Amino acid sequence: MKEITIKYQCLKDEINNKLIEEFQEKTIEARKILMGKTGLGKDFTGWVDYPLEIQEKDIDAIKEVTSKLHAISKCMVVVGIGGSYLGTKAAIDFLSDYYQTPDYEIIFLGNNVSSQYLKQTLDYLKNTDFCVNVISKSGKTLEPALAFRFVKELLIEKYGPSYNKYIVATTSEVGSLIHQEALENGYYEFFIPSSIGGRYSIFTAVGLLPLCYAGYDIYEVIKGAINCNQACLHLPFEDNPAMQYAALRNIFYKNGKVIEALVSYEPKFKYLGEWWKQLFGESEGKNNKGLFPVSLIYSTDLHSLGQYVQDGIRNMFETVIDVEEDQHEVVIPKDENNIDNLNYLAGKKIQYVKNQILKGVTQAHVSGQVPNIIITIKNVSEYTLGYLLYFFMFACGMSGYILGVNPFNQEGVETYKKNVYSLLKK
Ligand code: PA5
Repeated sequence: MKEITIKYQCLKDEINNKLIEEFQEKTIEARKILMGKTGLGKDFTGWVDYPLEIQEKDIDAIKEVTSKLHAISKCMVVVGIGGSYLGTKAAIDFLSDYYQTPDYEIIFLGNNVSSQYLKQTLDYLKNTDFCVNVISKSGKTLEPALAFRFVKELLIEKYGPSYNKYIVATTSEVGSLIHQEALENGYYEFFIPSSIGGRYSIFTAVGLLPLCYAGYDIYEVIKGAINCNQACLHLPFEDNPAMQYAALRNIFYKNGKVIEALVSYEPKFKYLGEWWKQLFGESEGKNNKGLFPVSLIYSTDLHSLGQYVQDGIRNMFETVIDVEEDQHEVVIPKDENNIDNLNYLAGKKIQYVKNQILKGVTQAHVSGQVPNIIITIKNVSEYTLGYLLYFFMFACGMSGYILGVNPFNQEGVETYKKNVYSLLKK
């Protein structure tokens, strides 16, 4: 894969050829099962080929609704939780500028139960022309359903009987209360295929509609996913970073490294880390097994959790996402007074300093028995985003099969829901 490269470093006794061969075999088998749709949760593997199945008319429908919404609003409220929220949030943050105010803003609701957050969001919306994309595959999840009730009420207050022109429902065609409501009230609607679970749904309308509304090129996102699909499916293990990543994380897990920290040096990748945590945590944490995924932003976290990573319990490895291209060549200026003693760096780029920190940190952590995987992406673009998200999804499916779990269910989440419904006296 030229778009993504992978390398790793660890102490000599942490890996050997026998282990690599063993896990290479397991990964080859896992890919076969995933591609052949013959494994656990096989009915939820529709996402594997989905990017190839998207048709021109699907994109046209998204574009058409987007242009209608652009004509009447400046802000989209995405109401959803878990897989119906994190992929979109990760994608928007990944692509957006740190400070530039976008022409069309995306905000999120329904992923928490903070009355402060809800009240302040509603107050903000009172003076904003907004539309709502309520996203829920089941169409029944408590947190987004509650939030939707509030924003709908506000839309009715603001726009009267034409409030329905401001709502898009992205949900299932069968068994969803939101679908029922959309039908009755004439909301715009997109369906999530039944064979695609929430955390694997970013390339459906779940992610594509908000991304299109925000002004991003969804063709490029899909192109990235398609090219990654082809590479994941057809490249041999030696040339296939997704297979290598799936194998490596299982090797480290077998060695007692039960925590995987996803590290980035780019602050706006924070939600990429949140999406990745849900993807791997919800896919693998079952049957009393699975790596515990955490995410860190360096240098920020080097000065907080860095101490633990270097010196705490030795049960962790790091996966770093690095960006090869320097998006902005920021050169360090010379200072005549040099009171800060930094003139030795004058003329060098900030990217150079980042690269040296990355090298130094990797050496330090590896010597402290924290194995290190580095995944390098070319740049920050729609194409790379599509490629990277698909890369992780495919690696996750294989990794779950190597571990021996069903990567596509999440029965554990139901336990809390049952308790809550009983406490709320549903
Ligand atoms: O990955 C998943 O399937 C879950 O995280 C769901 O996305 C999450 O529970 C929200 O469910 P729903 O979209 O049905 O509201």
